Amino acid sequence: MLAAVLTRFGGPEVFALGEMADPVPGPDSEIVDVTLAGVNHADLRRRRGGHGSPALPAVLGADVVGHRRSDGRRVAALLTAGGGYAQVAAPLRRHTVEVPDQVTDEQALAVLEQGLTAWHSLHTLGRVGDGDVVVVTAGAGGVGHLAVQLARWAGARVVALASTPSKRAATLELGAHAAVDSRHPDLAAAVRAALGEAPTLVLDGVGGRTFEQLRASLAPFGRIVAYGRAGDDVRDTVTVDDLMTSSTGVLGFWLHRVLDDEELYRSSAVRLLHLAGRGVLRAWIGGRYPLPSVAAAHADLESRYTAGKLVIDVRRLS
Ligand SMILES: NC(=O)c1ccc[n+]([C@@H]2O[C@H](COP(=O)([O-])OP(=O)(O)OC[C@H]3O[C@@H](n4cnc5c(N)ncnc54)[C@H](OP(=O)(O)O)[C@@H]3O)[C@@H](O)[C@H]2O)c1
Repeated sequence: MLAAVLTRFGGPEVFALGEMADPVPGPDSEIVDVTLAGVNHADLRRRRGGHGSPALPAVLGADVVGHRRSDGRRVAALLTAGGGYAQVAAPLRRHTVEVPDQVTDEQALAVLEQGLTAWHSLHTLGRVGDGDVVVVTAGAGGVGHLAVQLARWAGARVVALASTPSKRAATLELGAHAAVDSRHPDLAAAVRAALGEAPTLVLDGVGGRTFEQLRASLAPFGRIVAYGRAGDDVRDTVTVDDLMTSSTGVLGFWLHRVLDDEELYRSSAVRLLHLAGRGVLRAWIGGRYPLPSVAAAHADLESRYTAGKLVIDVRRLS
């Protein structure tokens, strides 16, 4: 099979298109002939040699859609050990879900990794409900644009953060009540000015300064769900005293804990795929790249320029 192979750590240019042996499925895995693979923020960190980086040479990529070789059914799957940027993948059987006919390959990819993160951050941890005032950081991003819609759907008032006027306009079009510049020096004040009240729930995929400012902006009894650190500016200064005196909560989310629970994973993935198929949940595709252009996809995601989900067409070679 052909794959975008990581042979050394570094910038986007380190990928090389190469021929590799097909993955050998274990007793609990199955072979999928991949059509599209997702590009995720965590792949950028692994490519640079940061936390969670694999032994080299390696194939990155945590989500794929394609055809299950055993029966030809169209399936989407998450890959806990990577291997997505290739023409063949071997996901665990329990991490594979069938894709309904009315859902495109692109939609399936967009709502799996990012949709599950948005859903469980909002509902399982955030307990979002009618009357909540929700801030979604990176509101035009892969997770964020789905979280904006799901929060609206749950009856919340929603403020989306995004760094460009066009991304902010797009979040309003998705249903956000207000949009705020994510580069604003005082995010707490900007969010309060936008809706006239303090947030009761924050979904944060950025971390660092964004996390700190928005945590401090929470209304009493509010909570912040930290699910990502796209900003790479890691400064955890929250103390138990802070939490007690502000009467707020900090919660963390990692998709692997959902993948540990097959019933939870499958039921929420099926729900999101059906919402996408009915057009209730709109999934944006921010870029589609041929397999030799994984480097361009990484550079684009790193630039903060993109909105929605980026996908690699592993069968296209130019
Ligand atoms: N916990 C989990 O299981 C899980 C699952 C999926 C994703 N994640 C994490 O969630 C985060 C978002 O993932 P995503 O796929 O939805 O990505 P994304 O939102 O499409 O891209 C990241 C966005 O973060 C914002 N951002 C703010 N400061 C940034 C900085 N210094 N550098 C780069 N971007 C910055 C940018 O939006 P603006 O320019 O508009 O501000 C950027 O577009 C990532 O950290 C990812 O690893 C976690």
